[in-house]
Amino acid sequence: MSIVKFYKEEHQVPLEMHKVRVVQKLFLPTVEERVQKLREAGNNTFLLQNKDVFMDMLTDSGVNAMSDNQVAASMQADDSYAGSETFNRLSKVIEQVFGTKHFLPAHQGRACENILAETFVKEGDVVPMNFHFTTTKAHITRKGGRVEELITPEGLDPNLDLPFKGNFDIPRLRQLIQEVGPEHVPFVRIEAGTNLIGGQPLSMQNMLDVAAVCKEFGVMCVLDASLLQDNLYFIKTREEAAKNMSIAEIIRKIADEMDLIYFSSRKLGFARGGAIISNNEKLILKMKAFIPLYEGFLTYGGMEVRAMEAMAVGLLETLDEEIINQGPIFIEYLVKELSEYGVPMVKPAGGLGAHINASEFLPDIPHEQYPAGALATALYIAGGIRGMERGSLSEQRNPDGSEHYAELELVRLACPRRVFTLSQVKYCADRVKWLYDNRHLIGGLKWDEEPEVLRFFFGRLQPLSDWQEKLAAKFREDFGESL
Ligand code: F0G
Repeated sequence: MSIVKFYKEEHQVPLEMHKVRVVQKLFLPTVEERVQKLREAGNNTFLLQNKDVFMDMLTDSGVNAMSDNQVAASMQADDSYAGSETFNRLSKVIEQVFGTKHFLPAHQGRACENILAETFVKEGDVVPMNFHFTTTKAHITRKGGRVEELITPEGLDPNLDLPFKGNFDIPRLRQLIQEVGPEHVPFVRIEAGTNLIGGQPLSMQNMLDVAAVCKEFGVMCVLDASLLQDNLYFIKTREEAAKNMSIAEIIRKIADEMDLIYFSSRKLGFARGGAIISNNEKLILKMKAFIPLYEGFLTYGGMEVRAMEAMAVGLLETLDEEIINQGPIFIEYLVKELSEYGVPMVKPAGGLGAHINASEFLPDIPHEQYPAGALATALYIAGGIRGMERGSLSEQRNPDGSEHYAELELVRLACPRRVFTLSQVKYCADRVKWLYDNRHLIGGLKWDEEPEVLRFFFGRLQPLSDWQEKLAAKFREDFGESL
């Protein structure tokens, strides 16, 4: 994206600084077919088949478009089980970008989380974090640990337009460590940027403050850098202290204060795979044995070597502001289009995707009828658009079996990088606007089959009435023969 002013456009229009050279044909089923496909998928957008999806806004994980240089690099992969040159090349890039000397490869982000939990979390431990991510929490609780979320209260108000709503509440962090005792805090986890609260970023200063508290108590400070790319852009554009810093300098300033960093390269680096990195050899040695056990030999860790080469190039591309700003600028455009129409969106626009506030969109649907899940199904009916429920469905039940309602009921419309054109984004906005005008037709959902762990992935639900058929009929009435 570039700052190119338009002559006749009233508002700034995002202008792509790339061209498309490989394309994939898309299909849009009819609205009646969409109702049927949804039923077959148990009203769970994770269970829809991609061939039935027109705009796949489920996630930005592993679905970003690669650059020509990434594809080219992947052809040079050194396909050896041990001692691969690809590993050496990737290690060098990681050191160049983060300044870290040690690198343990893993097949994706949650694999890093598994190894971290396996190595450091014991029964009764507390892991403070600004906000949880589904897989992170599952790994920590599996080991008998507890997650404490210490986001500042502003972070949970979807209508507050503040630059860094992902920030930690520093006084509460200090207080919590004092209360439970540093010996019961295996590490503090910074999620930068956040996922489940609308892709909201943390300031560079806040991350440094967290690291300082960790040092004060002798507790390990861990950065989940999976969503760092967008967060870097927000630091650069929203934080005074970073105005004159390059992206590379911002990364180093943060990374230098962390004991350990891990990330999903399905997000950071536009590739596939995962990495645990650190300058602390002792920490690395504690985890090392788990890599061949769970992932693969130490020079590939379950990753495909071609993906590792693409990751190396992708990480270097992350240093280029013109490359990393594409996601946030498209997201901002979508959020603006919808907010101006009155659709309740999480504000300000964050990273990862645009987030619709389902509680406000559907105020009459209570948590127990999963408003965000219902809205995600309605959006598929409205436009063949696959979003992701990020609300109570994505939570785990409490140990006593009662529901744990999400703080925010959101539908995420992820914007994979360099994948959609602006007309597709406009189409998405158009269908959401139609849905908003017809929101009184949307009803709730209930479980058919509810898995115990990570239920949102495979659970099957059904609508509480025939509201989906009625919504489809209204679509026909309004759009005639249009798909
Ligand atoms: N941490 C964060 C902040 C994430 O957003 C994710 C994945 C992970 C860890 C786990 O990484 O998928 O490679 O195992 N988020 C994806 C999403 C799944 O759709 O938001 P992974």
